[in-house]
Amino acid sequence: MSKHTNNDAWAGAGRRVFMQEVGTRDGLQVEEAFVPTEDKIALVNALSHAGMAKIEVTAFVSPQAIPALRDAEVVLREIERRPGVVYTALVPNVRGAERAIDAQADELNLVMSASETHNLANLRMTREQSYAALQAVNAMARQAQRAVNVSLSCSFGCPMEGDVPEATVLGWCERFVTELGARGVTLCDTTGMAYPGQVAALVRGFRARWPGTELTLHFHNTRGMGLANVLASIDAGADRFDASLGGIGGCPYAPGATGNVCSEEIVHALQLMGFDTGVDLPALIDAARRLPALIGHDIPSQIVKAGRRLDLHRPPADFDAIRQRALARDA
Ligand code: COA
Ligand code: ZN
Repeated sequence: MSKHTNNDAWAGAGRRVFMQEVGTRDGLQVEEAFVPTEDKIALVNALSHAGMAKIEVTAFVSPQAIPALRDAEVVLREIERRPGVVYTALVPNVRGAERAIDAQADELNLVMSASETHNLANLRMTREQSYAALQAVNAMARQAQRAVNVSLSCSFGCPMEGDVPEATVLGWCERFVTELGARGVTLCDTTGMAYPGQVAALVRGFRARWPGTELTLHFHNTRGMGLANVLASIDAGADRFDASLGGIGGCPYAPGATGNVCSEEIVHALQLMGFDTGVDLPALIDAARRLPALIGHDIPSQIVKAGRRLDLHRPPADFDAIRQRALARDA
């Protein structure tokens, strides 16, 4: 882990930050409109061409629970596989693992919640029951030689329980890393309760304990703190972020949930600061511009609304006259 002063966080100096797209899973899972399978495939392909390091393509959950993703198999099988891109899928149970392995997911993203209440609401199990299910899924993934990441929902607070103690969060991480041998852990801010000081402390705590484990931060922009939390994470030693195209998304089983941090907003900010995101920003923005037609409504993305910082505008039509008048005052 590099030791740097606070100010270094503002200067990317070419440091690599890995951008992981979750729009086709976290994003589409809450959409009422069913996005046609071929459009989902085209979207994933556009995202891999734009340079996202990892793509959470879909979720192998119950189609009754999340009808928007009922075409998970077809999407994962028919996307183009770009070398170097990790294609991951959310898996809640053994049935989901069988399906994901069958459909050639590179990585299985297992999920449980740091909050007992949210775990029951979202997964219909206690946390210990979920963990037992995770152990079974983990064994299957190992057998099939697939990587395992564990996503811990409500790591920064639960909308029903309130604060989740840092020791509880790190306690679960400990089991994921040492008992399951997970390649990566994602700390999820499911409903946008995280704030920079809290984030920095948790990232430092994680990094100090498990420097060799891939750590991802998954923020939702529910209270406008998403980008601030990303920067606080980088300052504390993190280099991997989930984000969703257009800023769509949210957990259907978490009251008040809204979109993830927006991929093109995070990439735009990090590139300005000199970080290497590996992403072709214009290509990403092009993909985001196509989203409203697919989901049937406007998207939160400020970059799609405002353009990039140096996408300049023409001066007013009567600019010459304005200048003449201004110069005439000095004459
Ligand atoms: N894939 C496909 N079908 C599945 C499935 C999976 N991974 N897991 C369960 N099912 C089906 C079962 O076959 C059963 O179908 P049936 O009623 O036709 O027999 C039904 O779903 C219920 O199965 P059960 O094992 O009793 O699960 P449950 O009702 O306790 O639900 C979950 C457990 C976790 C599978 C379900 O709540 C779910 O998928 N939730 C989605 C969570 C999610 O994605 N949240 C947002 C992201 S964090
Ligand atoms: Zn999420």
